[in-house]
Amino acid sequence: ISTRAFATSSARAVINNVTVIGGGLMGSGIAQVAAQNGNHVTLLEVNPELLQKAQTNIATNLTRVAKKLYKDDPNAAQQFVEDAKKRIQGTTKAEESVGDADLVVEAIVENMEIKHKLFKTLDEAAPQKTLFASNTSSLSIGEIASVVKRKDKFGGLHFFNPVPVMKLLEVVRIPEQSEETYQAFMAWGKSIGKSCVTCKDTPGFIVNRLLVPYIAEAIRMLERGDASAKDIDTAMKLGAGYPMGPIELADYVGHDTTNSILQGWQKKFPGNPLFVPCESTKKLVQEKKLGVKSGEGYYKYNK
Ligand code: 3HC
Repeated sequence: ISTRAFATSSARAVINNVTVIGGGLMGSGIAQVAAQNGNHVTLLEVNPELLQKAQTNIATNLTRVAKKLYKDDPNAAQQFVEDAKKRIQGTTKAEESVGDADLVVEAIVENMEIKHKLFKTLDEAAPQKTLFASNTSSLSIGEIASVVKRKDKFGGLHFFNPVPVMKLLEVVRIPEQSEETYQAFMAWGKSIGKSCVTCKDTPGFIVNRLLVPYIAEAIRMLERGDASAKDIDTAMKLGAGYPMGPIELADYVGHDTTNSILQGWQKKFPGNPLFVPCESTKKLVQEKKLGVKSGEGYYKYNK
């Protein structure tokens, strides 16, 4: 009996239809990885221009993946890209985006009010079966979930940039989350080729709780003039084996992102010296020098 019960519950939890909300850096990566692993994906953006931009980025990155997977077979590579692209449909209508979704992954701006508004709408529009997840880097999953009725079907699914390359998925639990939802999240993560780790709903979960203060400490070192950006980066690459140094990683992640993470944490946990935003980063954000994506941060890039 127990075997049959397990089979029934895991059959119910299978995820095929995934709706991704937001087609930015993270959302388009999530949509891509889901589609290239056989999911039918609906991608929601606020307007047709942003949708088009996301689809172009996805096509470019699918080609990079295909080239790697099918080095000696350009026809198979092209087929892989075409198949994955066909599995992604775009929309600008929130209510329609969740019609038959097994899972919704939200990857929009890090603003609690906007996330609440979105999830309220989706909770009304989505079928009962639909699981909800947020890809937030720094906000509380429990607080985001507070506006939905289906708290048992809610959790964090936190991906890393670049999503098609980074192998990790953090699966974040909240007390109301059912075991079935948790198991479905873990199984889905595995099915799209990620290694899953589990974490409680704490600031930054595992990776960002360690990575963001580390980046901020490196920037403070630069601000004090202890070493140059290039030498800090070289030191951590060659001395600690990191693929990128902390200053180039800060440029890569985007200063708007790290700055808003630190500002949010500082507000919530005043007095923690690890959570103090960096002055030079605040200045870069004001100047719209957000890092690689805007062509300049602590370093300059060719757009
Ligand atoms: N899509 C598909 N493939 C991509 C890609 C993308 N967006 N970006 C890079 N790749 C592939 C390249 O095609 C290349 O494949 P190949 O080895 O077969 O040629 C491979 O990845 C390596 O890329 P590059 O040769 O261009 O450059 P690197 O060897 O320097 O690797 C990197 C780039 C994978 C980004 C590596 O430097 C790295 O791992 N950096 C650290 C990234 C990191 O720490 N990310 C986490 C940030 S924190 C976060 O995301 C959390 C958020 O909440 C803030």
